[in-house]
Amino acid sequence: MASAMNGGGGGNGGAGAGGMLKKMGLLRLQYYLVMGAVAAAVVLATLRYMPVPSTTPPVAAAGETVRSAAAAAAPVVEGGVEEKKKRHVWNDGKEEEAKGKKGKSAGIVVFNFGDSNSDTGGVAAVMGIHISPPEGRAFFHHPTGRLSDGRVILDFICESLNTHHLSPFMRPMGSDYSNGVNFAIAGSTATPGETTFSLDVQLDQFVFFKERCLENIERGEDAPIDSKGFDNALYTMDLGHNDIMGILHLPYHETLAKLPPIVAEIKKAVETLHKNGAKKFWIHGTGALGCLPQKLAMRKDDEDLDEHGCIIRINNVAKRFNKLLSETCDDLRLQFTDSTIVFVDMFAIKYDLVANHTKYGIEKPLMTCCGHGGPPYNYDPKKSCTANDKDLCKLGEKFISWDGVHFTDAANEIVASKVISGEFSIPRIKLTASIE
Ligand SMILES: *[C@@H]1O[C@H](CO)[C@@H](O)[C@H](O)[C@H]1NC(C)=O
Repeated sequence: MASAMNGGGGGNGGAGAGGMLKKMGLLRLQYYLVMGAVAAAVVLATLRYMPVPSTTPPVAAAGETVRSAAAAAAPVVEGGVEEKKKRHVWNDGKEEEAKGKKGKSAGIVVFNFGDSNSDTGGVAAVMGIHISPPEGRAFFHHPTGRLSDGRVILDFICESLNTHHLSPFMRPMGSDYSNGVNFAIAGSTATPGETTFSLDVQLDQFVFFKERCLENIERGEDAPIDSKGFDNALYTMDLGHNDIMGILHLPYHETLAKLPPIVAEIKKAVETLHKNGAKKFWIHGTGALGCLPQKLAMRKDDEDLDEHGCIIRINNVAKRFNKLLSETCDDLRLQFTDSTIVFVDMFAIKYDLVANHTKYGIEKPLMTCCGHGGPPYNYDPKKSCTANDKDLCKLGEKFISWDGVHFTDAANEIVASKVISGEFSIPRIKLTASIE
């Protein structure tokens, strides 16, 4: 959910980061993330936030994780055939554990389209941004390019399907596309042309990938996914947050009037994928954006708070967006009777997390774990999480917000369990049922 930061408006992410920003062109990455990349060398030299992984020895014994490019690149035969060598993506015991369940995955394939909420390292790879510690500290124990201290919701989705975390489409090393591809890039919009990797571009990349796979198979060569894999795959989408961030500065009714075209882009994407044979869709609405510490710290005078301390106006925009998206999914269900189209009400899930935070062991639902300035929000729009003299919560202390915009591993785990449960979905089906 990286977004335009400067008053929620038109800029391409601020002027502070010079060459890096120019290089990024239209990509609306959060200002602080860009600054974080610029400051990375300094931060790396001065901080020691990465805990030493307790389970992974530097030199691996037989059966332990082995850093091997050849092993990582080895294609996996469709249908979940056990690999001879244990593959390895990140030097991390837990990821290996998740991957270790692969034998049961039996050809699970997921294609994801999205922004930072589901980016598993795409923006870091494609823009050449070194996302530095303490990102990744809670789960992977080193930065993976995710904008979190650990996993994003998509990672939990993959784990619950017993398949390994999705590789970003544009990551040149350690990628394995045998279980699908993650096209999500932080900062992306559903609206075309607003950002470099807007949804239409992500779809083009999908079509490119699919055509190359099928072409290879036709020639008798290897491909990570065959046509049956594409047809049976689950197509997940989590977009709209950055589009909404970009129109919040407008008068309320103008903001609302700009929502339908955003939703229309998501509808178009489903239609395009369906034309390409997709039949299983899992579509996330947007979260409780008015409860984000970033929004609260930059609140304007005319923005009132509700009983849980969230900005009413922004949450109303988010709810309206979700209502429109849900109705669009209803229409699509009538249109494509051969398909399963699941809409997940992320607002309800994420708002409950704030409203009922004590139930989840969270003390400060509106405060950022990794930020600047201390209470009440610990968020400074001018300083990244990775900058010096940060106020960083203790490892193990449960926070919802990692950096003011993105969720922590702990919060994503709670949210994901509800996403997967189907209780907040239309129709009310479990994730595992959607792939049958
Ligand atoms: C808080 O939890 C209660 C009990 O589970 C539930 O009825 C209520 O809807 C929740 N509040 C929000 C805002 O989700």
